[in-house]
Amino acid sequence: MYTFYLFSIILYMLTKKQVQVFDFIKTYRSKNDYAPSLEEIRRKFKLASVSTSHYYISKLQNAGFLNKEHNQPRAVSTVEAKQTVEIPILGAIAAGQPIEAIEIPDETITITRDEIGKQGKHYALRVQGSSMIDEGIFDGDIVVIRKQEVAENGQTVVAVIDDNQATLKKLYRENGKFRLQPANPTLFPIYRDEVEVRGVVVKIIRNLESQLDQGQSRDEKYVRKIDYSWDYRGEKTKSHTHGIHTYPAMFIPQVGRRLLETYSKEGDTICDIFCGSGSALVESRLIGRNAYGIDLNPLAIFLAKAKTTPINPQKLTKEYLALLDRVEKIKDKEIQRPDFKNIDFWFKDKVIVKLAKLKKAIREIKDESIQNFLMVAFSETVRYSSNTKTGEFKLVRVKGEKLEKHDPDVIGIFRKHAEKNIAGMTDFYKDAKKDVWTKIIYGDSSKDNGIKANSIDCIITSPPYGDSRTTVAYGQFSRLSAQWIDVFDDPDDASGVDNDLLGGRATKDLIHTLSSDYLKESLEKIAKQDEARARDVLSFNLGLNECLKQAHRILKPRKYFCLVVGNRLVKQVRIPTDFIIAELAEKIGFTCEDIIVRNIPGKRMPIKNSPTNIVGALEETMNKESIVVLRKN
Ligand SMILES: C[S@@+](CC[C@H](N)C(=O)[O-])C[C@H]1O[C@@H](n2cnc3c(N)ncnc32)[C@H](O)[C@@H]1O
Repeated sequence: MYTFYLFSIILYMLTKKQVQVFDFIKTYRSKNDYAPSLEEIRRKFKLASVSTSHYYISKLQNAGFLNKEHNQPRAVSTVEAKQTVEIPILGAIAAGQPIEAIEIPDETITITRDEIGKQGKHYALRVQGSSMIDEGIFDGDIVVIRKQEVAENGQTVVAVIDDNQATLKKLYRENGKFRLQPANPTLFPIYRDEVEVRGVVVKIIRNLESQLDQGQSRDEKYVRKIDYSWDYRGEKTKSHTHGIHTYPAMFIPQVGRRLLETYSKEGDTICDIFCGSGSALVESRLIGRNAYGIDLNPLAIFLAKAKTTPINPQKLTKEYLALLDRVEKIKDKEIQRPDFKNIDFWFKDKVIVKLAKLKKAIREIKDESIQNFLMVAFSETVRYSSNTKTGEFKLVRVKGEKLEKHDPDVIGIFRKHAEKNIAGMTDFYKDAKKDVWTKIIYGDSSKDNGIKANSIDCIITSPPYGDSRTTVAYGQFSRLSAQWIDVFDDPDDASGVDNDLLGGRATKDLIHTLSSDYLKESLEKIAKQDEARARDVLSFNLGLNECLKQAHRILKPRKYFCLVVGNRLVKQVRIPTDFIIAELAEKIGFTCEDIIVRNIPGKRMPIKNSPTNIVGALEETMNKESIVVLRKN
């Protein structure tokens, strides 16, 4: 159970212009009993075109100020204004060391009545500091407070202590004292005998610009909704076969399941066009959806198949125990040492011999599904017994004394993984629906992979974040395992995988016909600093655009396509991949219905890099991702 979703958090701050448009519609409606046309809005605000009027309407709809009318995207005649309320922003509140409580009303915010309830008086404060980040309250946010003098244990309150020092903290009563608890593990609680409560937090208005766009404040074409209920912080993510092998940037099963449950139904056929290790496919199997998965990394295909093939746990355990017996008896001279480039650089000789014995014993298993399933534990054993730093996704060799001392217990590592995996398979075998299928295709999603046009009920996927050289190197991560488990005819082909993935080959120049203003703007900013990096970004987006076209081809009309994407930083430029996808997709024949922002509590990806290439200069790459919900027209 997570305690994170304390408040209903989806709330927006309107820009001045949006408020003016909203006021105009409200006044017009009260005079005429119907809303103004897009043309009237255009004329009133001297807008360039009616599509700009439409843009303002969408913003107001997405923010909950106007009703949504999906079937009449060009008319505002059916919209109904919701009751709104203006709340004074009384000043700043410290989410850190207490600051003097000064109340100077300077500005107001407009929000809908629905979102704060009918009862009580409210005021708002701007947050300073980071002591409440684990509650989703960040520096620069605005909190809406309901005035009250008492609070329940665990509520987030405006507390005044020590002669007019105010702070935002969680309040607990303990042993006759008050504990003001920060929601940030690096900070200590404050204890006091007396605390004056000036209200409890009922809403958080995220300063999206500071979180996502580095301080840019402007009217965007799309709206991001922050929704912490998608975080699943602290929840178990390794149930069933989800945890049988590490893979970079895996789906959190809960996110996959919620998307599947929201946008598809039992018996549907879904597709994950970048299926990776197959997390969405496992969930599909568990909740009764037929599923296609496509990926261009052979190790991903291997893992996805193993994760989604139910195996009788008794048979599996029997084969596993027999295997442990056999491996002990294999003599050194009976094994075949694999032959791939740099094997001695990545593995000690002793380790190679043990791995080769293990592999031989696994290959002797006749049942192919069982053989493959145990090969997954072998693949993890390869990674953990190699000379690489296992905490990294790129291949980095350990050095010096650490390398000298490296003496992995190969069979012990294998047993640990195999036994954990068998336990996972036992649950999967029990819970997987029997009457659905999973088909996994080794292919490039920017091309036709043989899936029929208009045949898929829902696409759920998470594309790579960018090219493999500068973000997650799927191929490099997979290379040693892929070489050992023979997923390539020639093991040395394993080093070429990353070049074939999205963005793998930079374009020759920056000339393109992609119809996205957001992309254009990002490319210009990056190119000013580094043209080659801009070409990488363009190549990735050209590939992605082709994938969107293929997705459009296979999806049935009016069905949904959900992409979980990250907005990465390149050369200090935040690329709004979510907006770029929305723009590109709308040109292809989708409508962007939602962009939900979620935190990434535990996703394994490189969180820090050095964008400036200055030693020691670290910058956060990404700790949020967007779920872009598209619908085929
Ligand atoms: C973010 S990962 C997907 C992870 C997956 N959701 C999981 O839970 O394991 C993106 C995947 O896209 C794959 N990929 C990259 N370019 C591709 C392409 N052109 N066609 C198909 N797959 C591709 C990568 O190999 C990688 O497995």
